[in-house]
Amino acid sequence: MQDAIQSFDIRDWKPNLTAAETEKVALNLEQGAVIHLPTLGFSMTNDEQKFYSPSWLNGQRKNISLEGLNVRGATGSINDLTQMASMITRYAHQATQLIITLFPNYALYLNTARTSYRPNMVGAVAARSWKKDDSRLHVDAFPSRPNHGERILRVFTNVNPENVSRVWRVGEAFEQAAQHFLPNIKPPVPFSASLLSAIGITKRKRSEYDHIMLHLHDHMKADLDYQKNTQQQAVNFAPGSTWICFSDQVLHAAMSGQYMFEQTFHLPIAGQYHSEFSPLHVLEKLQKRQLVKR
Ligand SMILES: [Fe+2]
Repeated sequence: MQDAIQSFDIRDWKPNLTAAETEKVALNLEQGAVIHLPTLGFSMTNDEQKFYSPSWLNGQRKNISLEGLNVRGATGSINDLTQMASMITRYAHQATQLIITLFPNYALYLNTARTSYRPNMVGAVAARSWKKDDSRLHVDAFPSRPNHGERILRVFTNVNPENVSRVWRVGEAFEQAAQHFLPNIKPPVPFSASLLSAIGITKRKRSEYDHIMLHLHDHMKADLDYQKNTQQQAVNFAPGSTWICFSDQVLHAAMSGQYMFEQTFHLPIAGQYHSEFSPLHVLEKLQKRQLVKR
């Protein structure tokens, strides 16, 4: 396997890259690496320094996020919340600019999802269950949001003011993990996908792909022996650095850190440079059948 972390010296949110450089970064990303940009930081203005405190969280959500023009999960005066929204929007714009500059092919397909500001220390709030414990290695898959193979692309930036790194563990390649867990994943119960969708538990019908991804997520988190003994590495993302990965593909666990921005995108496989590395195509190759309707 290639090194799971690939670093590039990119100092601008709108970098100037040749087509060959772009293709190299895209190949690494799509093969399942974390693209680490150690010299790309996000600047908070003097006025925004006051947001360095978890006390801005309203206690109802783990993070502060921007949905449309509204800030969710934060508490403060209208002025403060407006200022916070503008800070998070600025991050969203820069992250979007970075992605479409680094990966021009994505531009036509990219859907911008949630942007979050995470002032809490990792682990400050105990996970409500082992399934929600993100300090265990996992791939992202969400029970209520079937995506039929669409990719989950995320940009993260550590803005810690006290030189505290964000520490992750990164596991083995997706295909190896899938081979490890697939034999124990049972097929969906007939009609369960229609039922979950009809009663509103899922936002759309769960495909077989979604079923497998959710079980991969759960089986991986539940297997403490795997968590401890599988091939893995700890990675320190220093303040002033940014990293990008497909979080539905990279086995990741958030171990420690505080103060981070994150931007999520959804990308249809059609927008990829090398869709053969996508979890959908890897799982279909291993299962020898289609897992979503086409
Ligand atoms: Fe995750």
